Amino acid sequence: MKDSIGTISSPAIVCHGGAGHSAKDQPGVDAAVEAGWGILQSGGTALDSALASVVIMEDDPALNAGTGGRLRSDGSLHLDAAVMTSEGKFGAITCIQQTKNPILVAAKLLHEKVNILAGSGARKFADSIGIIREDVEGSAKPTGNDTVGAVVRDESGLIVVATSTGGCTSMPTGRIGDVPLPGAGLWCDERIGIAATGIGEQITLKMSSVRIADRMASGHGIEDVLNWGINQFPADVEVGFIALASEDSGIGLANTKMPWASKG
Ligand code: GLY
Repeated sequence: MKDSIGTISSPAIVCHGGAGHSAKDQPGVDAAVEAGWGILQSGGTALDSALASVVIMEDDPALNAGTGGRLRSDGSLHLDAAVMTSEGKFGAITCIQQTKNPILVAAKLLHEKVNILAGSGARKFADSIGIIREDVEGSAKPTGNDTVGAVVRDESGLIVVATSTGGCTSMPTGRIGDVPLPGAGLWCDERIGIAATGIGEQITLKMSSVRIADRMASGHGIEDVLNWGINQFPADVEVGFIALASEDSGIGLANTKMPWASKG
């Protein structure tokens, strides 16, 4: 963001591959950061960078989003995704089917009057913007492996958060977790962008992302506020966050294993 003396913000990116994932899933996260960082280095926007990063993780069958999305209890695949910007824009879709990259549908809602679409309505919206219907292969891997996310700041100072998930394994069809809910699975304002990962019901009840942002506003550091967010949960509830403030480098913290990476 250019201030009154024309300072330019330093670009930065942080991505995660989901609470509960082990180090073997780190390569997909590293590839996402590299792609997003390359876009920032060539002057691209935080939105373009965040979307490119999340698309790479959605296409990675090891990660729980897009192609690797975890199956519902009836064996179907229903995907959620959301994007929020520090300009106050939000777009999300939930329980969408036949969509390889749900994050690209959610991003289109940033420019619409409606900001969340579900199920067949989300898919019809995707049709209307030319995103083809295709069968997407989900994963029956066990629960506890969750969600992908990216938080990016570009040289204009814009911060963007993008998250995508298949939800937790074996949830009922129609279940909505934290990912498409602003304040719960993600938050972004001019001070900080945050993406959460973990059991969606627990994160939603605590409205974790917006509460962490508010705590940052009362003068705490980024690592302190993420630790505070994690400490709101009992140890047996796996949870993690990535965050990027208006000046700092991005960081990730979790009470379990969680592949994450950052640049800038
Ligand atoms: N955190 C993703 C979900 O619970 O759906």
